[in-house]
Amino acid sequence: MCGIVGASAQRNVEPILLEGLRRLEYRGYDSAGMALVDEGVLDRVRAVGKVQALADKLEDGPRPGTLGVAHTRWATHGGVSEDNAHPHVSSDRVAVVHNGIIENFEPLQRRLAAAGYTFTSETDTEVVAHLVDSHLAESGDLSTAVRAAVSELDGAYALAVVCRDDPHTLVATRSGSPLVLGVGIGEHFVASDVAALLPVTRNFVYLEEGDLVTLTPEDYTIRDGNGAVVERPVKESGLSISATEKGGYRHFMLKEIHEQPRALAETWQGRVTARDILASSIGPTAEEIFGRVEAIHIVACGTSHHAGLVARYWIEAMSRIPCNVELASEYRYRDPVVPKNCLFVTLSQSGETADTLAALRYAKSREDGYLATLAICNKPETSLTRESDLVMMTRAGPEIGVASTKAFTTQLLCLLLLTGMLDRRPDERAALAANIRGVDTALAAVLELDEAIRKLAEEFVDKQHALFLGRGPMYPIAMEGALKLKEISYLHAEAYAAGELKHGPLALVDENMPVIAIAPNNEWLEKVKSNLQEVRARGGKLYVFADAESGLNTGPGITVLDMPHVDDILAPIAYTVPLQLLAYHVAVAKGTDVDQPRNLAKSVTVE
Ligand code: AGP
Repeated sequence: MCGIVGASAQRNVEPILLEGLRRLEYRGYDSAGMALVDEGVLDRVRAVGKVQALADKLEDGPRPGTLGVAHTRWATHGGVSEDNAHPHVSSDRVAVVHNGIIENFEPLQRRLAAAGYTFTSETDTEVVAHLVDSHLAESGDLSTAVRAAVSELDGAYALAVVCRDDPHTLVATRSGSPLVLGVGIGEHFVASDVAALLPVTRNFVYLEEGDLVTLTPEDYTIRDGNGAVVERPVKESGLSISATEKGGYRHFMLKEIHEQPRALAETWQGRVTARDILASSIGPTAEEIFGRVEAIHIVACGTSHHAGLVARYWIEAMSRIPCNVELASEYRYRDPVVPKNCLFVTLSQSGETADTLAALRYAKSREDGYLATLAICNKPETSLTRESDLVMMTRAGPEIGVASTKAFTTQLLCLLLLTGMLDRRPDERAALAANIRGVDTALAAVLELDEAIRKLAEEFVDKQHALFLGRGPMYPIAMEGALKLKEISYLHAEAYAAGELKHGPLALVDENMPVIAIAPNNEWLEKVKSNLQEVRARGGKLYVFADAESGLNTGPGITVLDMPHVDDILAPIAYTVPLQLLAYHVAVAKGTDVDQPRNLAKSVTVE
């Protein structure tokens, strides 16, 4: 999704902005641009494609500037072109970068065009540049002009604005899209993500909805949505620069797959004792709230939604509490029945996914009310964590690859912790606690299959399609495996509950259709074996991830990859890993852009 970086300093900010854009590349984008202000001149450079294309253009060079804004664009309104790339400029003096969507841009565009402004792009953003310019003509003050302009906007935005005639001032504001202020010594910055600014500061102010900040190298002032000056806390980020670097791995995705044992250990530590799972670890009120829960609604998107689907099996089987799991983009547009004492749970790596956030806001607005809202999130200080009653951080650390890996397995572990917290049977909780404490060792053993899976992946390179099968909690894991494969290798993949095969998809099976099955030695194994026979009988080529004790062996038409034994309850977490590795190695073999797959964004902050 789009990324913003801005700076006002006493040194040339071009390299700071460029490095910031590079650090935002993981979010997904299709073009990039920068505007710099120096000695009464506003220079703008834009390029389609990678940030490197912008860097190459900057080599020929605009003049250096001590004030500037930069942007990576992920197209929403208007195609991928240099004209549509940000910054957008008005009257050669105002430059604007924008994340989000301006919903009422068309009437504003008509009004501004009638007033004499010429539009050179197909974007919704260009109206903001002209709107600020028109208000600047009235007030002569950039902050006043930006506030007046945003008062006319409907939609979601984070904006950073500079003006040629005010060469030290940057004005930035947010409503519905994240924005942080970076506090340096004799310099100040803004960005849509702290990762962009880690090389220049560790001190951040997380701007709140409606905040508008005016900054110069020496100072900054924040006003809230009502225009009142407000103090916001400066927080030190615990992120190290190296946490957002590849650390010797070829891709972020591979690094993040291999980080999972450590990430999972972080997730449970401090929350699980030798005999119990502590609700108090997520807040003083959690135990009392969980004691009253009679129903659960889990809402999320994409991979996070798959984690919720697994949790339904765990929660209903162990705590007997009815659990409904739904896509956020669907949930927010219907009128769900809210049962008595229902806990509303959101799952999100980024904490800024527009649909999930909107679903949370919708849930909170319901008159028949939820008991409480709980966010399970990987990023601190996000809209989702701020707006939820309870927060359980997944603690996976920064996830840069667009394809979610360690964020997913740590979400699963958080949901298993939640399952334990909701279970009122002490002996069952103690058994679960013991299992959870072994999860990191179990995952480390699974990662040893990396090389075997790399070899297996070679068989998929010339394939066009693949089917994934699972039963019980392995069905959502099959869905996750299919999503991983399609998002980074562009191979068409679908997942089915194995029992559904004969109700239609079996028609697709022939010698060209690889069928990947997940078959741990659990209560569904014999049923899965029958489903595999249905595939073999039709000449399908089977690839099965199975427990060594499953009784399944490699033979004609079937390749079995022996998984280390894990307890049933941990199997969804453990069996996710070989599917991540399969997707990764197929993508590498096909030569796709693993960390930034085409058309996708890391954090989907638009609807
Ligand atoms: C997963 O690989 C995808 N990048 C995507 O499905 C993602 O999980 C989804 O967009 C939800 O994001 P979130 O967890 O940040 O809310």
